[in-house]
Amino acid sequence: MNLKLLFLCLFLAVLIIPADVRIQTFYVVFQVLDGLTDDDDDDDDEPNTDWIFEIQEPDGRCNPNPCLNNGVCEEKGKKNFKCDCPKPFKGRKCEKGPKACRRGRCGRGECVLTSTPPFYECKCKEPFQPPRCRTVALCEPNPCKNGGRCVRDDMDFDCECTPGYSGRFCHVGPDDCYEDNGESYRGNVSETDDGKECLYWNSHFILEKGVNPFSSFEDEDGLGPHNFCRNPDGDMMPWCFFRRGRKLLWDYCDVTECPEPTDVAPTEEVSAGPQPTAPKPTESETHTAAATKQPPTKPPTPEKPSEAPSTSAKPTAAQPTSNATAALEQFSTCGKPQPKKPITRIYGGLKAIPGAQPWQVSLQVRPKGSNQLYRHICGGVLIKSCWVLTAGHCVEPSSNILVLGGLTLNSEEPTEQTLQVEEAIKHEDYRETPSAVYNDIALLRLKGSNGVCAHETQFVKTACLPDAPLNDGTECTISGWGATENSSYGSNHLLDAKVMLISQEKCSEAKIYGSVLDDTMFCAGYLQGGVDSCQGDSGGPLTCDQNSTHVIYGLVSWGDQCGRKNKPGVYTRVTHFLDWIKSKTETAAA
Ligand code: ARG
Repeated sequence: MNLKLLFLCLFLAVLIIPADVRIQTFYVVFQVLDGLTDDDDDDDDEPNTDWIFEIQEPDGRCNPNPCLNNGVCEEKGKKNFKCDCPKPFKGRKCEKGPKACRRGRCGRGECVLTSTPPFYECKCKEPFQPPRCRTVALCEPNPCKNGGRCVRDDMDFDCECTPGYSGRFCHVGPDDCYEDNGESYRGNVSETDDGKECLYWNSHFILEKGVNPFSSFEDEDGLGPHNFCRNPDGDMMPWCFFRRGRKLLWDYCDVTECPEPTDVAPTEEVSAGPQPTAPKPTESETHTAAATKQPPTKPPTPEKPSEAPSTSAKPTAAQPTSNATAALEQFSTCGKPQPKKPITRIYGGLKAIPGAQPWQVSLQVRPKGSNQLYRHICGGVLIKSCWVLTAGHCVEPSSNILVLGGLTLNSEEPTEQTLQVEEAIKHEDYRETPSAVYNDIALLRLKGSNGVCAHETQFVKTACLPDAPLNDGTECTISGWGATENSSYGSNHLLDAKVMLISQEKCSEAKIYGSVLDDTMFCAGYLQGGVDSCQGDSGGPLTCDQNSTHVIYGLVSWGDQCGRKNKPGVYTRVTHFLDWIKSKTETAAA
């Protein structure tokens, strides 16, 4: 990155970031839902979200789906829609939730929703007692299960468990463990890694945040009116929601992996690439749940870098391919993330799951000739085994490496592949001014052998190039490790979020970006602010669905601060550069 741009980015980062929000989460849906169940007001003060549908000329009134809480949208003529709301939701957009759990209804307990009158139940936090969780009783009745002895400790108590039992109430048995990724786990652990108590899956607090675990996940996922850890969404291990003040967060649980793996011995792999294995999270981070993966909110632990997360990854030469056929088979399809069972995700996505953004690249640098740790500076997108697309302003003369297939920056994951950059080709017409960056695109050619550089695995795949422009209002996905609401240095965990394509005309209005936009870029995000990309996400993907395939439609480029009202993110318009990409990648291959 040249000095001017570095200055621009630093300036933006320093100026803006405390208030900024990046792949930030509280988008309009949550604002609409927030307070529905706790407050006594009658939902009249909800922010008006109709602008989305009015200004962006979406493709029909039901696209994007205006109905919240899994409401089914039906078009009514050219201009209108009707939402068929699942019980107990009501309202034009199914935005009105049940009010059974008003604030304070359950004293020092958790209010959970039930399907029969009075439609709620109080789950008291010990030592508070049912029915209203307002009175305290220490050790009487004994809250400890499985023969555990209750010991009073001032105004609290402890359970002394009989051998083999554990958990705050000795409710976790000796054989309580999970196999594989824990999707089949039906045990009793109800605490996170950090000892936070899990919320009941039917807690009103989860529902209030726009999440309905029962409709969001499939039935047989083991969810129910309990607070045991589960893995209903194909994550790497059981997890649960918990709350911190008004924030809904999630984290992995304090569950034990079963000792004897029941897997059959792996059969021989055709792929020349590294064996994909789901990484077991080694660190505990908390995750905001109420929207898209949100930034980890745990304060940095001492071993974590306090600056931009560095990586311990060392460049490794690409593994030699076993034969030419294997090379041909590799990356024969693009734009297909690891198939997951179809789940309706919480609005905007819950958290990045392994393999969901398999084309996401972390571009890392260190000064030439030094042996400092590599430092993440930008995102990128794998489009072929040996080619990565990134933003032009991300190309620096320092020594570059690319890390593919990873989710966290500060730990080396078994799914990762690290490759060196052989050549960086910045667009010839790349140009930056104090207000915009033009033709912000570059191609990175990777080091490999026999035309094979990255190896296709569950976690490393290519995105397709788009073949036609998409409609304004289309919902697309952005991802990256850039600055977040909580950390101006960036996130250690890969985050993703949904944004909408905003029409060029709208985005060129004087109060938005005026006349600085040209056809090498487009805007995406939400004009009311909130979800956005930010410093450190540059060069990373904005992918959209085109004929059931993920196409790389934009590259994170610039924006006036992050997450601000009327200042959406600006992305390099990949469709404008299709011939350029083709000419560069084909000449080099010939
Ligand atoms: N220039 C920034 C980077 O180098 C990206 C800024 C994107 N800003 C935004 N508001 N979307 O990472």
